[in-house]
Amino acid sequence: MQYDVIIVGSGVSGLYTSINLDSNLSVLVLSKSSLENNNSNLAQGGIAAALEEDEEQDHIKDTLIAGNYKNNIDNLKLMIKEAKKDIEKLISIGVEFDKDKQGNLLKTLEGGHSRKRIIHHKDATGKEVLSKLIQVATEAENIDIIENAFVYDACKINDSFIVSAIYEDNKVLKFRCRYLVLATGGLGKIYKYTTNSSIATGDGIAIAYLLGAKISNLNLIQFHPTALCEENEERFLISEAVRGEGAHLVDQNGYRFMELYDDRKELAPRDIVSLSILKEMKRKNYKCVYLDISHKDKDFIKERFPNIYKKCLDIGIDITNEKIPVTPVQHYLMGGIYVNKNGQTTINRLYAVGECSYTGVHGNNRLASNSLLECLVFSRLAARHISLRKRKCLNNIFKEDIFKEDKYCIGINKINFNYKKQIQDIMQRAYFIQLDVNSAIHGIGVIDNILNDLKELNYVKDIHFYEIRNMCIVSKLILQESIRNVK
Ligand code: SIN
Repeated sequence: MQYDVIIVGSGVSGLYTSINLDSNLSVLVLSKSSLENNNSNLAQGGIAAALEEDEEQDHIKDTLIAGNYKNNIDNLKLMIKEAKKDIEKLISIGVEFDKDKQGNLLKTLEGGHSRKRIIHHKDATGKEVLSKLIQVATEAENIDIIENAFVYDACKINDSFIVSAIYEDNKVLKFRCRYLVLATGGLGKIYKYTTNSSIATGDGIAIAYLLGAKISNLNLIQFHPTALCEENEERFLISEAVRGEGAHLVDQNGYRFMELYDDRKELAPRDIVSLSILKEMKRKNYKCVYLDISHKDKDFIKERFPNIYKKCLDIGIDITNEKIPVTPVQHYLMGGIYVNKNGQTTINRLYAVGECSYTGVHGNNRLASNSLLECLVFSRLAARHISLRKRKCLNNIFKEDIFKEDKYCIGINKINFNYKKQIQDIMQRAYFIQLDVNSAIHGIGVIDNILNDLKELNYVKDIHFYEIRNMCIVSKLILQESIRNVK
């Protein structure tokens, strides 16, 4: 099958791109899993947006402070300026943000924000936005969506891309398109402990890298200070909005230790809070610290954070009168596939949007709730750019149809799942909040051995094989870049 545009990834950035493209374009969205299984669906906090013009400067300033002034200032200004259009668009397609009794949007605080500017839908903003985007995209006549199609390869032939995906029943599907948009999200699964969904293995970044696109600042990994401390590897997020609404970070004895580290206490930017917690845990040999919101009104807690309340209750913690055990875990990738303000990568007709892209807006550390905003603004701009380019190019009929269904699985041996665990152990040891150079150097050697095995051992080329390849590629890039940065 052939399309004008193929979008790989069905989180907020992928679907928002699809619905902003000119409706004359044929669009295919390839989703690795179900439409609901992605990081967007797990985003709790909200969307930071300066909805009045006189609030823009403050939002820019807070983002720069959080990002240690390493942000791409032009893209940042653009993002803040454009925010209002996207919030209005979301409201127009039915996204419901929390409002006060007079019907005004309610805004909350999170770490690093000097004023309340985060609009939200209870503690499930990503889910609300995604569900409305799914509705609009699935109803659009020009958009096809295929779930459970894992894209493992894209190659460029003349002016088009051939995209290969492993589908149900071991089929390989091949598609051709004029424009390819990577919207594959993050890479949290290279860590043992992450808030990311099970599909976040850095696939789009690996594909772009193999195509020769520039990848930037992959060492910029963000660790969220407060994930629920459980045995699970996919850790449940306790939103920063909980601190925004007044929760305290305390040790086992109830002491508010953030006073020792930063004047902004619990509402310091995320990198500072995560590092402070790590130091506190090391100093006192703790397995976790605690988040305490029990001094707030019970009904308010249940109404404002229904999912967090329920999740904690399920494991026996009533957050209206008990402390929540939390630790920092991997949460977000600030680096990625290098793009300009229109989402263009360094390869003609290849675009990247959302978490897998690097627009530079976040600098060294993302300000809370700027991620959905980045997804929205730059996905819309990428869609606009593709639509304008496409209109100029009328002669766009492909000569032959190359839809192909093959059996995949060439190879004999089943891949060893232990490789995934090995990569996660390496990353957890070598680069968890702070870099451990020796472990990083050792880790690169182990990853090289795994990559070698993938070449030599005649493995069945299934989804696990390619996930491991992708995890190796992005982990190695992260460690190499981190080591370069200390030198
Ligand atoms: C959160 O709710 O704490 C996460 C929001 C974000 O990552 O910006």
